[in-house]
Amino acid sequence: MKAPNTRSGESRELVIRGAHVLDPPSGLDGMMDVKVSDGRIAEVGIGIRGSREIDADGLHLFPGFVDVHAHWRSPGQEHKEDIESGAAAAAAGGFTSVVMMPNTDPVVDKPIVVSGLAKRISEESRVRAYITAALHVGLKGERLTEMRLLKEAGAFCVSDDGLGTQSAGVLRNAMLYAKSAGLPVILHCEDHTLSTGVVHDGAHAALAGLPGIPASAEDVATATGLILAAETGARVHITHVSTELSAALVGFFKDKGDISSDTTPHHLTLTDELVSTLDGMYRVNPPLRPDDDRDGVGGALRDGVLDFVATDHAPHASEEKDLPLEEASPGFLGHEMAFPALYTELVTGGKLSLPRLVEAMSCAPGRWVGGSGSLTAGSPADIALVDLSEEWTVNRDTMASKSSNSPYVGKAMASRIVGTIVGGEIVHDIHDIFSGAKFGIRA
Ligand code: DOR
Repeated sequence: MKAPNTRSGESRELVIRGAHVLDPPSGLDGMMDVKVSDGRIAEVGIGIRGSREIDADGLHLFPGFVDVHAHWRSPGQEHKEDIESGAAAAAAGGFTSVVMMPNTDPVVDKPIVVSGLAKRISEESRVRAYITAALHVGLKGERLTEMRLLKEAGAFCVSDDGLGTQSAGVLRNAMLYAKSAGLPVILHCEDHTLSTGVVHDGAHAALAGLPGIPASAEDVATATGLILAAETGARVHITHVSTELSAALVGFFKDKGDISSDTTPHHLTLTDELVSTLDGMYRVNPPLRPDDDRDGVGGALRDGVLDFVATDHAPHASEEKDLPLEEASPGFLGHEMAFPALYTELVTGGKLSLPRLVEAMSCAPGRWVGGSGSLTAGSPADIALVDLSEEWTVNRDTMASKSSNSPYVGKAMASRIVGTIVGGEIVHDIHDIFSGAKFGIRA
């Protein structure tokens, strides 16, 4: 496994005092102090003191969030996002690790592209960033990439994200080769012979006169992917599950292979009702679905059938989104609004517990990348500090991302990420809590 890349961490000791600490797997749930030293969690408990302290009374402290699905658009589309802005957006959302997708320009399908990206990450990213290389050359679903060489160059996993693999035989070979190379496969499940429209094929598409994408476009490909994952034994992660049936299929196959899955904040909180606005903002792939799918996917996340949340952070320039739905590029920003949207909609709405949300955003994806998403002593000091009582309205002009295509712009949020720490280094500090402006610091 390739070690994550970050800028050199701050090694000074820091004690964060009196936050409500929540780390479900280790049973931490209460007012505690967290000592960070040399970039790692040194101690969690009561009455811990240190040479440098901040008072975090009133805040919640979670293991940093881990986003297994992000498009940082590098190389080649840096007008939408680059590594520095992608990392800043991640940090602003409490994410301390991110897995980058390969549908870039050029596609990440050659070792030289992987090693170039790894170098840029080490110089420009303030959060941990893992590289996904393509499963097939040019994401075309035809010729396998040289996965062993891609891994040697620094790839962490492989995917053709953005496109589904159309031939089951080709996908089966890809899984077998990825398994032999020791690389997990992230699967974007889409049958392109079925997905010929732009929004979910339902009543809202019909009323708006828009061509629909039936749920079967995802479900058929999900079934194929799961059957092949079970048969090959490859490590397969099904990403952005958006239908109730695909979630049920994952549930059926989950224990029959090395299989995991995620869904997104937008499929958990929004529905295809938004299509009636005709606003290109709401085009995304897979498309927003009806209430039953949103609730079915939410129930599957709650029950652990779906393992975690990943955002599919997909920045697009305003000229690609400020268009009618049929002409707009698909995708939403994800990093900055993920936790606030899910907390506001699902936790305060009584549909998901706060510990399960933290498990789904930190601990489970942290286990998937390995060694992240935990507050146990010795773990990397990757931390999200959150004010669950702060109410704010999402403003497109104040985003850390280079783009502003968030479907939550103008929406009221009931929680805010106020601080993010990666390997002991402070990478986000919206209220200057670490410089002492709000809570005070003893140096
Ligand atoms: O909406 C999407 N946008 N879905 C994808 O699978 C790809 C992504 C992008 O790269 O813009």
